[in-house]
Amino acid sequence: MARERIVPDEPQFLERFGQAGGLASSAVAVNAPRSVAADRYRLLHFRIERLCEEHGLKCVAVASAEPGAGRTTTVLNLALTAARLGDRRVLLVEGDLRRPCLERLLGLPPGPGLADLLDGDAEIDACLRRLARPPLFAITAGRRPDEADVELDGRRLRALVAVLKHKFDEIYLDMPALLESADASLVASAADAALLVLRPRASAYEAIRGAAEALGGARILGCVLNDAEGRMAELGLGMRPALPG
Ligand SMILES: Nc1ncnc2c1ncn2[C@@H]1O[C@H](COP(=O)(O)OP(=O)(O)OP(=O)(O)O)[C@@H](O)[C@H]1O
Ligand SMILES: [Mg+2]
Repeated sequence: MARERIVPDEPQFLERFGQAGGLASSAVAVNAPRSVAADRYRLLHFRIERLCEEHGLKCVAVASAEPGAGRTTTVLNLALTAARLGDRRVLLVEGDLRRPCLERLLGLPPGPGLADLLDGDAEIDACLRRLARPPLFAITAGRRPDEADVELDGRRLRALVAVLKHKFDEIYLDMPALLESADASLVASAADAALLVLRPRASAYEAIRGAAEALGGARILGCVLNDAEGRMAELGLGMRPALPG
């Protein structure tokens, strides 16, 4: 099937529908589709897509050992890259209920989301937020959980993902850092596979090993070396934009 070009690259278009449309500037897949960074995300998506097709996977959680490695930037751009292809149903899910940020990055107003779904307080259709361009669906965090019941219910999340897999072709889950929150292992176990984001400055060997352990039996699809060019620039060797390595 021919792939429709959903977001043309003309600057005026980006002004109207890119950042002006509410997407954060880190959403380079849409805001700077001709950049090296956007190109790297297309390559990453292509590789993930191939692996998913080969192994019959639909739901990928984007993980890292430590906070700030670039999980959200990676998952956001992966989902946007997939959505821009225009020929598949793509869903991006906020799996970090303690420090959610997808609603803000997507420029969406507050609405019901994952916390409400897991509590049984909302229907899936009421929580599916739709971006017109690119055609992406998102489930944001929803009700901010009280400190008292902030734990994520892994069994309910798995059941929810099973239902969502009937509605979507590709599902991407953002999640907390594996070494920071026990929720992360639960989110990873609800997905078909995890993608491990490494950031040269931040990801120490021991931390990566700890992350692999925290992933437990979850299938690790592969690793993304994020911000490698940034490190190169620091060493005086960088020639190209930083996102992603
Ligand atoms: N390749 C990159 N080049 C430059 N900046 C980046 C890159 N990747 C991520 N960042 C920036 O680093 C910060 C952390 O990235 P991001 O929020 O994606 O990480 P995270 O792993 O989701 O963090 P958290 O643990 O806070 O959820 C953000 O300000 C983001 O814009
Ligand atoms: Mg994040």
